[in-house]
Amino acid sequence: MKITGKTSVYGIFGFPVKHSLSPLMQTAAFQHCGIDAVYVPFEVSPEALKDGIKGIKALNVKGINVTVPHKEKVCELVDYLSEDAEFLGATNTVKNENGVLTGYNTDAEGFLRSLLEEGTNVEGKKVVMFGAGGAARAVGYALLKGGAKVLHLINRNFQRAKEVGELLSKRGNVLVYPLKENTAESLVEDADIVVNTTSVGMKEGDPKLFDYSVIKGETVVVDIIYNPPLTPLLKAAKEKGCKVVNGLGMLVHQGAIAFEIWTGKKAPVDVMRKVLEEALYG
Ligand SMILES: NC(=O)c1ccc[n+]([C@@H]2O[C@H](COP(=O)([O-])OP(=O)(O)OC[C@H]3O[C@@H](n4cnc5c(N)ncnc54)[C@H](OP(=O)(O)O)[C@@H]3O)[C@@H](O)[C@H]2O)c1
Repeated sequence: MKITGKTSVYGIFGFPVKHSLSPLMQTAAFQHCGIDAVYVPFEVSPEALKDGIKGIKALNVKGINVTVPHKEKVCELVDYLSEDAEFLGATNTVKNENGVLTGYNTDAEGFLRSLLEEGTNVEGKKVVMFGAGGAARAVGYALLKGGAKVLHLINRNFQRAKEVGELLSKRGNVLVYPLKENTAESLVEDADIVVNTTSVGMKEGDPKLFDYSVIKGETVVVDIIYNPPLTPLLKAAKEKGCKVVNGLGMLVHQGAIAFEIWTGKKAPVDVMRKVLEEALYG
């Protein structure tokens, strides 16, 4: 890599940020496309976020990604928001155009693209989604934007389910349920698509979300977890003959859309996916 006086600077704001795979993925994309740019991690504490955002303008950083815990707060600090970022109240990408900052949310569109590339269109589908955290908001919004007929939202903390359900129902047909025995099973049996947006399945010894034996072979089962590549939910679904999709595609495509927003160029999705696969799975 040759850094000169003309090299553009991009990066990611997070706290912590050490675990982020975005520097690897975006650097690979810039290099592959011959773009004279670097992409670096910025560990920005919540107290320093306001100054950090001002710093983007002051230092002429061309764009940043934003990760936990800053996605919500950044919305208040930029000049404009995209429709998706405004609806979700969460920004994961900022573009700096001559000192004017626009916040975008590429998680939702990234999720949809990851399904489309696997040949799954959500239009008219009955979907069961587990979770009501930050990721669930973006994924649920994407499913409704993509035309899902109904979204059954199930979460352990029912109050959270109701809050997310209230927001998402502005976009489509949403029904909310607490995570209880039998409720999930009967909904899953009748679903076209099942999506896990909870963190259940990341760690060895995690509980099961529901009795996975009820999954039918024609159901598409999605888990936005990407490590491990096959969670117990996806393993069980695969054994039933289901099409399964993990979270790697969402991670790649949210980054690819950010790259496209910044550069106006088509992102080298395969290159981005390859570096992530190498880093995650060896
Ligand atoms: N592929 C991607 O690009 C991508 C992007 C973002 C996130 N993710 C993944 O998505 C997952 C969730 O992220 P997030 O940011 O939404 O986290 P979050 O805001 O902390 O939400 C966590 C969710 O998991 C549920 N949960 C946690 N432990 C549970 C348990 N033992 N039983 C039942 N439910 C449980 C929570 O339920 P309660 O409300 O009841 O606590 C909540 O719905 C993580 O695994 C993350 O790695 C992937």
